[in-house]
Amino acid sequence: MVQNREVWGSKFGFILAAAGSAVGLGNIWKFPYIAGENGGAAFVFVYLICIAIIGFPVLIAEILIGRTTQKNPVGAFTALSHNKFWISIGFLGVLAGFLILSFYSVIGGWTIGYVIETLKGSISSFNDPAEAGELFNALVGNVGWNIGFHTIFFALVMFIVIRGVQGGIERASKIMMPILVFILVILIIRGVTLKGASAGVMFLWVPDWSKITAESILIALGHAFFTLSLGMGAMMTYGSYMSKKDNVVTSSAQIVTLDTLIALMAGLAIFTAVFASGLDPAAGPGLIFQTLPAVFSSMTGGTFFSLLFFLLLAIAALTSAISLLEVVVAYFVDEQKWNRKGAVIIFGGITYLLGIPSALSFNVMSGVTFFDLNFFDLIDFIASNILLPFGGLMIAVFAGWVWSRTEMMAAAKEGAERLFETYPWFEGIWLMFLKFIAPVLIALVLLNKLGFSITG
Ligand code: PFF
Repeated sequence: MVQNREVWGSKFGFILAAAGSAVGLGNIWKFPYIAGENGGAAFVFVYLICIAIIGFPVLIAEILIGRTTQKNPVGAFTALSHNKFWISIGFLGVLAGFLILSFYSVIGGWTIGYVIETLKGSISSFNDPAEAGELFNALVGNVGWNIGFHTIFFALVMFIVIRGVQGGIERASKIMMPILVFILVILIIRGVTLKGASAGVMFLWVPDWSKITAESILIALGHAFFTLSLGMGAMMTYGSYMSKKDNVVTSSAQIVTLDTLIALMAGLAIFTAVFASGLDPAAGPGLIFQTLPAVFSSMTGGTFFSLLFFLLLAIAALTSAISLLEVVVAYFVDEQKWNRKGAVIIFGGITYLLGIPSALSFNVMSGVTFFDLNFFDLIDFIASNILLPFGGLMIAVFAGWVWSRTEMMAAAKEGAERLFETYPWFEGIWLMFLKFIAPVLIALVLLNKLGFSITG
């Protein structure tokens, strides 16, 4: 069984696919607006610390669990523990993949929709963000537009995942990730050469510590998880196709570096343009869909840059969405012995259907609420705010306390012998972060997200 399982074609292919999973709407849509709302540079600094002390150690553990067992999250916990509690943690991961993908695809659809709107010329005549906001509200308020682009986005995701690990996911990542970096570089050059761009650079570079509150620290910590695709077994599943000859520690470091660099680059491209146009950096979730179109309208060559930007967003969303579907598919292929095509069609189809009420949350179902949240926000809340941090906490606890230390270290050293010999202190530090620092900090995020705010 194990010998038939698919593998990545190369270490480079794995890095690009995993970075593709990490780099998504989180980096290009969410990171800039939460940085904008929380004071810019000071927030970025806290976020970088969270990535280093929680994201990096937990990412190594997650990939390692996958690589050691060569299984999806349910199979991986079964193989390492045979304990019902841990197996159910694997199930929660599969469930989170299913839930996140359902609404992620709706926003993914918007990104494609905005590419089309740009081509139609709709993004070139705004005087201010309020006008761009009107277009945004009209588009997401339109049932056909919303479901139509959700369908197109989902079809693309299924098309890639059906082709398998090497022929689908790895190939798509190898094509799309370089395009993404290339587009981002062009947008940064455009941004920093605008008149008045330096205010945007300063915003990301000169910290205003007064903006840092307990709340913003928790937001940074929560985002560290989401942006690295941690806590639901996506990195575990990608790790399960990795060769034992490759180095898990340096691979994780490369994924973290790429993800962080791309978030910072997106921040630079966006804030230089926003400041150059004198607009508000703290516009919130609408920054990308309302403020930026106004920025594009006012700049020379704006239609071209708008096209590039929404294409960038669509690519980023697509390479993340395929990792979400792969978690679900890997479970049905490994554990229930489905063939890949059947698993993609049936479970992709069910996930697509679950996305429909999310798409309708912006129009006909906007009045339907559960605990004051519409359907879209409810699913997002359950998955991103509860399941991901909880899963991350459990993965840190499992690696730090449950998995036999001798076995785990032997697995970690496979492919990384030189690294652990050259830097003997690395083992102790990694374990300390996994055992104590990550679980305590994640528990704080989780409690805060559930409403027991420590900010008072
Ligand atoms: N990391 C993705 C982003 O930043 O948009 C989101 C994500 C993908 C979260 C895959 C979790 C996951 F398993």
